[in-house]
Amino acid sequence: MKCPYQIQSLEQYHTDYQRSINDPDTFWADIASNFTWKKQWNTVRGGDFKNGQSTWFEGGTLNITENCIDRHLADNAQQNAIIFEPNDPQSDTQYITYQQLYDRVNEFAHVLQKHGIQKGDRVCLYMGMIPELAIAVLACARIGAIHSVIFGGFSAQSISDRVNDAQAKCIITCDAAYRGAKTIPLKSVIDDALASCTSVQTVIVYNHVNETVNMVSGRDFWWKEEVSQVQQDKLGGFPAVEMNAEDPLFILYTSGSTGKPKGVVHSCAGYMVWANYTFVNVFQYKQNQLHFCTADIGWITGHSYIVYGPLSAGGTTLMFEGIPTWPDAGRFWDIVDKYKVDILYTAPTAIRSLMGCGLDPLENKSLESLKVLGTVGEPINEEAWNWYHEHIGKNRLPIVDTWWQTETGGIMISNLAGITPAKATFATYPLPGVIPQLLDENGHVLEGNSVSGNLCIAQSWPGSIRTTWGDHDRCLQTYFSAYQGKYFTGDGCLRDENGMYRITGRVDDVLNVSGHRIGTAEVENAINMHPGVVESAIVGYPHEIKGQGIYAYVIFQNEIDDAQTLKTEILKTVSQLIGPIAKPDKIQFVPALPKTRSGKIMRRILRKIAEGESDKIGDISTLLNPEAVEVIKQGVI
Ligand code: WTA
Repeated sequence: MKCPYQIQSLEQYHTDYQRSINDPDTFWADIASNFTWKKQWNTVRGGDFKNGQSTWFEGGTLNITENCIDRHLADNAQQNAIIFEPNDPQSDTQYITYQQLYDRVNEFAHVLQKHGIQKGDRVCLYMGMIPELAIAVLACARIGAIHSVIFGGFSAQSISDRVNDAQAKCIITCDAAYRGAKTIPLKSVIDDALASCTSVQTVIVYNHVNETVNMVSGRDFWWKEEVSQVQQDKLGGFPAVEMNAEDPLFILYTSGSTGKPKGVVHSCAGYMVWANYTFVNVFQYKQNQLHFCTADIGWITGHSYIVYGPLSAGGTTLMFEGIPTWPDAGRFWDIVDKYKVDILYTAPTAIRSLMGCGLDPLENKSLESLKVLGTVGEPINEEAWNWYHEHIGKNRLPIVDTWWQTETGGIMISNLAGITPAKATFATYPLPGVIPQLLDENGHVLEGNSVSGNLCIAQSWPGSIRTTWGDHDRCLQTYFSAYQGKYFTGDGCLRDENGMYRITGRVDDVLNVSGHRIGTAEVENAINMHPGVVESAIVGYPHEIKGQGIYAYVIFQNEIDDAQTLKTEILKTVSQLIGPIAKPDKIQFVPALPKTRSGKIMRRILRKIAEGESDKIGDISTLLNPEAVEVIKQGVI
């Protein structure tokens, strides 16, 4: 069956866009009426966008799992919902039909209920990229618990910060996960994290790798034993809990420019409509196609385009446990050919790293099944775009460059595959419902084309962030106060002569390393925990593969005898406190950091030095310590 709200032509894009702006209530009511509701909404758009308190479909009730699973059973029960490609290419593929997904999600919902998890409780998930992660996410949603997935690369400290902030009652994890040639212990990291978490009563452990783990009696339970008990008890289907449209569906922690990561909260109904609408339109998904999003479910891309988008559309989603370069750099292409993938959605950093492996890994790969390519997570440079287009797309496939954020729930600015025009390195045009505006530093809206400014969104859209968990003021301050009445993205952007948008990167103190958001303050705080460190400053610099690398300037309290050992210790500290993804690529020891007279570190100067543009620093005479700049320039790595 054709999706009634899938845009079919450029002309329709223009008319739908206009309708979505002129009469959003009717536009979104039409779309929302295609979903399964327990009770119809009263108000399509409500709340107070200007204060970061939008509401969508208020008065309506539903359960997202009925939309992602139950409603597909009548016609497509035997269709694959999830295809799982394990880390080891020799291991067996798992095919999970919609019927099987229904059974497994329901069983696990019973397990959660048995352990006292109720609507509104928080459950943290720290697992590898295995089908049980998607099943656990959906089981939480089925009983109305709020899931919070923690990326498997985060450290015990990062986990406990998140678990404590969310006051999670339950953790779901694995003994360990495979990642290329490595085995990553997960349960033992959870054990460390839980030493400082008092809210957690239950830990459910999926045995995946057969790693020896420590099980705490009365707290820790084996997934498979719990599920088999439910099967023996023949508990059957689990009635999907009725959720208000605005009830939180999940919390996902993300880095900002200050302090600890914040818990971005998404709602049940608005998020569902947005994830689905953007999935169907951007990728132009057709029934029976196979969608392969290479992200991890620990990030928003995995939430929206591995789980909720494809499943709500009745699609088949491919989950891959491993990494693109193991056992060799042809792994993605093997997977594409093995399963006849239709849509490949990946990140510029993966493209650049595969590009660096040359063309040999592409030999004997047909890639004929591919229809649409996508990228997400960071600006894509022209060289990577061209390589993707030529060698993977064979100069014939559309590439969708999708700009969005954890906070936006789904894609905001992107071409629609084969429908609206593409332009290398441009996300191009906004989706229906999205009003992008560029603002200058004084808060003036820049009208017309060929302008650059800070990117804001001027009107509420269904997938908008609802709050930051436990602290709405932080949400207001971070996103809705820089420019009155608008959502500020933190990104710089230009609009070309044709009105197409190109995202140029973050304008705040957030780095984008291999598509992962990392707050400079977070890394500095971690480095400063090293007992010998007096102060540090982190900036980004252009990195060939990662997009941005992390450059650390560090003041050490004593004379340095062995810089290398010290650097290793600092890296270890960062790994322990945040995770390996936040490890600086370069560390330079400096005697002082350039500061303003009010004591603020002048990152602009440090950035220029790290970028190799110290000749473009400009006037430093107003600094408190201009002499520090010269010393830093001398010692640059
Ligand atoms: C960046 C990922 C350029 C941007 C979905 C944004 C992009 C941040 C693109 C959000 C793109 C994402 N072009 N930049 N197509 N997509 N970004 O929250 O800086 O992990 O603010 O969400 O990634 O990262 P997040």
